[in-house]
This record gives sequence, structure tokens and C-alpha cells, in this order.
Amino acid sequence: MEFSIKSGSPEKQRTACIVVGVHEPRKLSLAAELLDKAADGYLSDLLRRGDMEGKVGSTLLLHKVPGIEAERVLLVGLGKETDFGEKEYRAAIATTARALHHAGGTEGTLCLTGLTVSTRDIIWRVRQAVMVAAESFYRFDRMKSKKDEARRPLRKLIFSVAPSGELAPAKQALQEGQAIATGMDFMKDLANLPGNICTPTYLADQARKLAKEHGLKVEILGRADMDKLGMHALLAVAKGSHQPPKFIVVRYSGRKKTDKPIVLVGKGVTFDSGGISLKPGAEMDEMKYDMSGAASVLATIKAAALLKLPLNVIAVVPTVENMPGGGAARPGDIVTSMSGQTIEILNTDAEGRLILCDALTYVERFDPDCVIDVATLTGACVIALGHVVSGLLANDEGLARELLDASQASWDRAWQMPLLEDYQEQLKSNFADMGNIGGRAAGTITAAAFLSRFTKKYEWAHLDIAGTAWKSGKDKGSTGRPVSLLTHFLLARAAAKVGEAAP
Ligand code: BES
Ligand code: MN
Ligand code: ZN
Repeated sequence: MEFSIKSGSPEKQRTACIVVGVHEPRKLSLAAELLDKAADGYLSDLLRRGDMEGKVGSTLLLHKVPGIEAERVLLVGLGKETDFGEKEYRAAIATTARALHHAGGTEGTLCLTGLTVSTRDIIWRVRQAVMVAAESFYRFDRMKSKKDEARRPLRKLIFSVAPSGELAPAKQALQEGQAIATGMDFMKDLANLPGNICTPTYLADQARKLAKEHGLKVEILGRADMDKLGMHALLAVAKGSHQPPKFIVVRYSGRKKTDKPIVLVGKGVTFDSGGISLKPGAEMDEMKYDMSGAASVLATIKAAALLKLPLNVIAVVPTVENMPGGGAARPGDIVTSMSGQTIEILNTDAEGRLILCDALTYVERFDPDCVIDVATLTGACVIALGHVVSGLLANDEGLARELLDASQASWDRAWQMPLLEDYQEQLKSNFADMGNIGGRAAGTITAAAFLSRFTKKYEWAHLDIAGTAWKSGKDKGSTGRPVSLLTHFLLARAAAKVGEAAP
């Protein structure tokens, strides 16, 4: 999909289809009024005759509207003007994308970016428009022998903005939205692949390819390297699988070497059967998505590279397959993590924290500015927060605040949970420094409490994306979250660098 920005009056746009909004009841938006004037009241006549109310999700496609340059006009219902906010704006863009797709046109010019959306500026409106539109065009048909090609696929979306001061920020926002959308598509493609294709080795190959495309540094550690480093918690998870584990490090350098990096760590369990603590059979296929954290951090570094952000960013991906087998770790096994702390593996299905803890120790060597890990870590997070917000826990309130702000700005929302010392008690073990589970109560927090024992040396935040990384049911598929949240966080950090010394 190609996106671009244009300024100019709606009635003068030469385009296959011009898209304007209608509020309920039967009220033309500003852009629609301009079209109406040029068309001598054609649109207001239609509304008066009851052809469209303006309800959310409704559309009306018109051909040969007199007095205007566009070949077609698409009216999109926006609902009541007083109710119109961020959610409705996003819905209107999605409705438009679908309608244009079905209309079979190859191009559309949207005036919706000119709508008033609470206090959101043109940057927000354009970024969101690109992301939502890209979202509705995403298809994953790589594994189908016959692809369902649209007759005349929509190729180009143009966003029409006010000519005044909005053109430059809109163009900048367009690039940002596109970089995020490209990152999200990249994440979705990786996450939607089945476990027999997307193995740790495959992820490592994709990281190499990504690095080559964007001029990034990449390093892949194998089992022997990890053994030497003492990553026995991570290696214990890999033991039941025939797939060798990998440890992926990708670096993007947008600043001088001495600038401390932002480190993103992503859980890369390419399939989580639970291991010897085997999961129940229902929906177990969805555990191919247990590498969503990994995919999201690789996707975010891709977006950072596309945007040439003035930051140093490192993506770290510990990746394994969690399988039962003759060599698999047993419940009760005790391992020594890279940090030297010992762990009693009471449940082999709490494997995410075992691979993450060694990664979190490894990243100390980067002297990070901050570390954010992203993981489909606990079923408890789905119970607590559902599929709406991601869980956020942090050992630093400033970092948590920045991530919450980014989550609001991106509409890829997160909610903070308390990481209090009191929860540590649940991790006590009679035989090792800690157990890897903390019982049924507060499962998301005790998982983070476990990780916090390995993050004492830097500012750290943890995103539990178990409920938000993919959708189940008939729309089963990766959501691309939290790539937008993370990229918005990086964009804000990059903006804060402005005024500091040049790289
Ligand atoms: N990958 C799962 C978490 C998960 C489950 C994410 C369902 C999304 C949907 C994780 O490895 C896991 O199995 N966690 C266990 C931890 C428990 C054994 C303490 C869980 O949540 O049941
Ligand atoms: Mn598990
Ligand atoms: Zn898992």
C-alpha cells in the first residue's frame, strides 16, 4: 500500500474516490460541505431524502457527483458529533479502507484526517490513519496454495490536509505511521507462521536478513556459546526439543557509541507445549504465538532503522522451543542461571521467565539506559486485563510513566500493575534460591517479581502481552502489538534528544 499527503480543497481533488464524513443525524462534515457547495447541494439533498443517517460504520458510494473533480464520492458515517473521539476516528478509517477495497477502486483520497478528534493534533490523526488503514489491508496467505487476489486491489491512499501549517507535520507523521505499519506487518508475518516453520533457527535467519537490509549489526549465539556464558535456565527449556536454541542480538546505532542504548528483550518461545508440565490440548496451536515478544522487538528495531532515529537501540531475543521429550527438564530440576542464582523448576510451563532471566543478565554488558522486555508471559494476564490492554510492571516509575504515555499516544494501550516487594514471598523454594512459579494468586505480578531479581542493575520495565499479541477465533491472527507502543516510546525519546549534542 502506498500512502501520500496532499493539500487542497476536496472539490478540486482529481482522484478515483474522495472520502468525506457525515455526522449523525445527517450533518455534513466541513470537507463534505465544501463538496456539497461545489455540487450545488447534491449531498445535502441526498441526506434530506434519507439516503444516509451518518451512523457509525455506514457508507454511501456516489458516482458522477456534479461540479467536482473526483470520479466518485464515498460518504462515511461518523456517528454523533458530540460522541466523536479517538475510537470513532479509528473506526471511520477502518470502515473507509474496507469500503474502498470492496468498491474495487485503485485509489482513494481521504479528507477524514481533517476531522476534529478531541485534542489530537494532525500528527496523531495521520499516524493513526496510516496504521489503521494498513491494519485493514493486512493478509497472511503465505501458507495458502491459492491466494485470493482482489480484482483491482486498492493501491494508493491519499490523505488530504489543510494547506496551512499542517502539511509539513502531516508528511512527517505519514513516514512515522508507515514505519510503524511496516514494523507491525513484519511482526505479524513472523508470529502468524506455524511452529514447524518459525523455529529458533528461522528467527535467527530472519534477524540476519533484517540486519542486512537495514545495515544493522547482528550476532547469533548457539548452544555452546550459551553454555559457556552459564545460561542454564535458558538451556533447560531447550532440552526437550530437537530444535537448537538461539540467542539473537541486533543493534541499531543512530548515535555515537558512548550514548547508552535502549535495550528491548523479546520472549522467543517458537512453540510452547508446556514441556513435561504439558498444556491441555484446546487451542494449543495458539502457542505458536509465544514468540510474539521476540517478533515485536525485531519489528521495533526495524521501525527505528526506517526512521533513522537518533538513538542506540539493541534488540535481544532468547529463542527456544518448549517441548516434552526424553531430554526435557523435569519439574523439580534445579538450574543455575547466568546470574549465579539457582532456580527450582517447579513447572516447566513457566518457561518464559527462565529464558528471559538469562537474557536480562546478559544485557548488563551493554550498560543500558533502560531495558524493556516484552513477553506473552502469563495466562493470568489474560484473566486480569483481557485483550484490551497489555500488563506493565517496572522497577522505575519514570520509565513506567513514559511507556504509559506512549501507550496512550499510540492507542496501543497498557496498564500498570504493582511490583511490590511483598510478592517476592510467593517465589520461595525449600531447595533453591527461588522457584519458577508463585501459585495462582497474582500470577502476572509474581512472574514479573521473578524477573525483577535479575534486573537490579538498570531501569527496567516489563510488558506482558499474553492477552494483546494475537486474536483468537474466526479472526485468529497476530495483532502487531506492542510495536506501535514501543515505537512511540522511541519517537518520544528521540524527540527529547533534540537540543542535545549532535551524534
Ligand atoms: N506462554 C504461556 C502464557 C500464555 C498462556 C500466554 C495463554 C497466552 C495465553 C506461558 O509460558 C505459560 O505457560 N505460563 C503459565 C505460568 C504458570 C505455569 C505459572 C500460565 O500462565 O499458565
Ligand atoms: Mn508456558
Ligand atoms: Zn510460554
